[in-house]
Amino acid sequence: MPSMAQAGVKDSTGSNKPNSKFPNGYVNSFARRQKIIQQRKSLPIASAEKRLVEEVKKNDVLIIVGETGSGKTTQLPQFLFNAGFSRDGRSIGITQPRRVAAVTVAKRVAEESGVELGQRVGYSIRFDDYTSSSTRIKYMTDGLLLREALLDPYLSRYSVIIVDEAHERTVHTDVLLGLLKKVQHARSKSGNDHIHIDNKANNGTLAVAEKEDGSQSASLFKKCQGRKFLPLKLIVMSASLDAHVFSEYYSGAKAVYIQGRQFPVDILYTLHAESDYLEAALITIFQIHLEEGPGDILVFLTGQEEIESVERLVQERLRQLPEDSQKLFTVTIFSSLPSEQQMRVFMPAPVGFRKVILATNIAETSVTIPGIRYVIDPGFVKARSYDPVKGMESLIIVPTSKAQAIQRSGRAGREGPGKCFRLYPESEFEKLEDSTKPEIKRCNLSNVILQLKALGVDDIIGFDFIEKPPRAAIIKSLEELFLLGALTDDCKLADPVGRQMSRLPLDPIYSKALILANEFNCLEEMLITVAMLSVESIFYFPREKKEEARSRVKCFSSPDGDHLTLVNIYRASDEFLEKRNMGPGKDKREKIMRKWCKENFINSRSLRHARDIHSQIREHVEQMGFCVSSCGDDVLQFRKCLAASFFLNAALKQPEGTYRALASGQVVQIRPSSVLFQAKPECIIFNELVQTNHKYIHNITRIDYLWLTELAPHFYAVQN
Ligand code: CDP
Ligand code: MG
Repeated sequence: MPSMAQAGVKDSTGSNKPNSKFPNGYVNSFARRQKIIQQRKSLPIASAEKRLVEEVKKNDVLIIVGETGSGKTTQLPQFLFNAGFSRDGRSIGITQPRRVAAVTVAKRVAEESGVELGQRVGYSIRFDDYTSSSTRIKYMTDGLLLREALLDPYLSRYSVIIVDEAHERTVHTDVLLGLLKKVQHARSKSGNDHIHIDNKANNGTLAVAEKEDGSQSASLFKKCQGRKFLPLKLIVMSASLDAHVFSEYYSGAKAVYIQGRQFPVDILYTLHAESDYLEAALITIFQIHLEEGPGDILVFLTGQEEIESVERLVQERLRQLPEDSQKLFTVTIFSSLPSEQQMRVFMPAPVGFRKVILATNIAETSVTIPGIRYVIDPGFVKARSYDPVKGMESLIIVPTSKAQAIQRSGRAGREGPGKCFRLYPESEFEKLEDSTKPEIKRCNLSNVILQLKALGVDDIIGFDFIEKPPRAAIIKSLEELFLLGALTDDCKLADPVGRQMSRLPLDPIYSKALILANEFNCLEEMLITVAMLSVESIFYFPREKKEEARSRVKCFSSPDGDHLTLVNIYRASDEFLEKRNMGPGKDKREKIMRKWCKENFINSRSLRHARDIHSQIREHVEQMGFCVSSCGDDVLQFRKCLAASFFLNAALKQPEGTYRALASGQVVQIRPSSVLFQAKPECIIFNELVQTNHKYIHNITRIDYLWLTELAPHFYAVQN
């Protein structure tokens, strides 16, 4: 990862004063510090500090289970730091399944420790790194630690790794648990006698070459043979009582429990099933606001689009209320929200106001927001689902599990008795699955398989997963990687394509698209496309202005499809900034940009995020020696490159106007928001399949059917 640490930690005045500035008006006052000290002392984990440190010293693997909000994520790393676990220059690494959690928690812990973010306490997530050589407590996503392993297979710069939120069982967490088992074994096998510590070597890495050992892990750590390492402590933290799964996986590792504080929560159900859960959520928000006592409201929704639409509707309805009832303050939190805005959820509402937090399942366990007394749970979550036979991954909105519903209602009882409004009848609760299926069992595995291959793990089926993914899914992903040219026909990492792909922090299909675009001379267009495809909902169509928005967005539309439309939007925003950029500061530029976005019905949050991602991947490909050039007016070239890249997602029009995906045979429809919805070309490639009542495809480009056999003969010449 390129390090932005040095640039990132300075504030605009160049001041080094600790805590001189916190986002959104956090002021470093004496009163605030006192309050933080008080808050820390009152956390359930505070009284367990000594015991926890002792347990970590005694056990190489420790499982810690504790109620959400008990202080695990923010406090344990500080306890370990204070106990000297990073005294030798190594770091304490804490992984989070979600970017939002890594960022908000790192900010909070930096503030608690009274240090500037990016110094002793930092975070690192894909496309954003706030660490420096002095960072000792490092929050990061689980996916990022996996990437770090590519460069440092023994994770030698860490003395302790805490896998947090392990109950979420994301695919990255599961792979990491397996990898860490191997790393720990290899590091302890390498023995720690005669270890020479050289802090200067490799940015604080303590591994120093000695004699050969570690035969067990030879295949995994080829590059590091013959080196010796200090042992690694591993801590697995979980919010729910599934400790035995982790304990068994680590040969009976000890589990400790932190007693949480949970007040009673009244659970209320609806009498009948609700046909429109957003409307039901809105009604409930206002019912609580107007009829219930003080306390903030947490609403669980499934994604950015729902959250933003409910936010607008709340504002609208609020305006219709008498002035003294208008004191409702909305904040939102979801994973793609820019990090400064994520922090807003922690701000108290203005005096006399009630806060409504509109959140995705992030707020189930990943972030703990104080002040909540009411929870509204429509009972749905957006989840990945994968069909290994068809090789199709999709995001679908599904009912939560019982465990999730219980976790959600628990959020209302952290500080006092609370209420949870489940927007479904009680009989439905009984029908829910007990717990959520681990993601590894329901997702496309290409990404992690490519990374494991790059780490030298050749036998994927034999890899010691905490829970084995379906064999069919492994085979399908191996096949996909082979078709993309990342693996050779004997399933080894192909050089250079596979290796290059594993280095890029993107889905293999997008990494391959960039590599191809370099050959097709349209890397500039593809970088923009990949960046724009990496964010959720670039458009922002308010319900009441749908028609106006549609016609406005038309001026960016390309008759060739959504990919070029996205490129046009990005370039238009670039041009606009260039024209206006007569030296205004960053804030002013952002304000101008927001105005432009509003006028053009573009989601400014998403566009800004895409611009960040763009500059980061651009840096990556430049480091790989690629030259970023444009195909100019030759859009045919770009469309051919899209066809060559996304040939696995090609579809042909059927007589009745639907499409048949060629690789899977599925019948799909173009989503109405696509610029090709009306035109319905004969042959297309697409990037996204969303399954609601229909199977909708989105992000589509018109291609020529014959290109497929020309550009992907290894797939189409044989099949058709
Ligand atoms: O990890 P766990 O759920 O056990 O708790 P935590 O994330 O360490 O949070 C402990 C407490 O810190 C929460 O109850 C919040 O009151 C506070 N906190 C905060 O105010 N701001 C943050 N960004 C994170 C935590
Ligand atoms: Mg936590």
